Amino acid sequence: MLTVTLIPGDGIGPEVVEAAVRVVEATGVPVQWERFEAGTEVMNKYGTPLPDEVFNSVLRTRVALKGPITTPIGTGYSSPNVMLRKRLNLFANVRPAKNLPGVRTRYEDVDLVVIRENSEDLYSGLEHIVVPGVVESLKVITERASLRIARFAFEYAVKHGRRKVTAVHKANIMKLSDGLFLECCRRVARDYPQIEYEELIVDNTCMQLVTRPERFDVMVMENLYGDIISDLCAGLVGGLGLTPSANVGEDGIVVYEAVHGSAPDIAGRNLANPIALIFCAAMMLDDQGQQEAAERVRRGVYRVLSEGKVLTRDLGGTATTTEITDAIIAAMEQPSASPA
Ligand code: NAI
Repeated sequence: MLTVTLIPGDGIGPEVVEAAVRVVEATGVPVQWERFEAGTEVMNKYGTPLPDEVFNSVLRTRVALKGPITTPIGTGYSSPNVMLRKRLNLFANVRPAKNLPGVRTRYEDVDLVVIRENSEDLYSGLEHIVVPGVVESLKVITERASLRIARFAFEYAVKHGRRKVTAVHKANIMKLSDGLFLECCRRVARDYPQIEYEELIVDNTCMQLVTRPERFDVMVMENLYGDIISDLCAGLVGGLGLTPSANVGEDGIVVYEAVHGSAPDIAGRNLANPIALIFCAAMMLDDQGQQEAAERVRRGVYRVLSEGKVLTRDLGGTATTTEITDAIIAAMEQPSASPA
């Protein structure tokens, strides 16, 4: 029996997480869920958006499926998502973006993975007012974290049969911080002669992503660039409703969550696309040695997308979250002999 910490989060979180749970249950893989509330309402009740019991559960189960959690903009408490990554030492964020059958986009043959450093950079939370009207935010880049993420990216490439790693940077301007990051990537690259290595400045990367995205394979970058570029990559393959991610720790803890946020504009209306979270669940099943179940989940999603009859609004359809989830579960039941 697999035990998984379940954090539905807030906004559309509970809706899409519920959908993913239903899909996992439909695979027949026995899972015991340890369910914990987190987010705005929990903050109002307990004074923290992420109570200690959530961390304790993840430390015990070592695997979590998480919905998005709202972060107040400009004021209020710090991001619970960043807090979770920091406290659990989830240093690597893996964000695959791949064209999907039936999802029409401007691009073909996109199949890339953004590996985002999760623990430092401008997300250090170190900000202060120097004098009224002047604010400093500290960008922290360390050799240790840069070597660690570079090694992770190359190991990922080897494990997943990828050919190339692109280090994304702005070392022409931030010569010390991004310079250190780049130097670490170069050092690690030397240990992997079988993997092609290239370096690209972040602005050029954006331009090339929207002109020739198929040229990219594994991309490794600091936290802020990774945050922005992975949303851009989600846009290349059909939007935020389709892209999963995994936050990976040094000691093997993994928290799976969609790239998207809590989408307050559509929350509570059964309109959210649950596929990103369902793909998260498939990644989780894969990592837990349940490849066959993961494959069934993906096949179910591909079938529904290819048929194009039951799609949520973000994909141009009118289906609700519940309806598309029902359709995916029904498609998973079909024999694999008739691929979509
Ligand atoms: P967002 O990703 O929540 O929404 C951006 C746009 O995409 C909205 O129009 C939304 O309706 C749409 N969208 C997102 N997910 C969708 C889905 N599954 N199906 C259909 N449409 C979808 O980004 P936004 O508005 O910038 O952030 C909202 C809140 O989420 C903020 O408080 C932010 O801090 C938080 N957030 C949390 C994350 C996490 O928990 N890991 C990640 C990103 C944002």
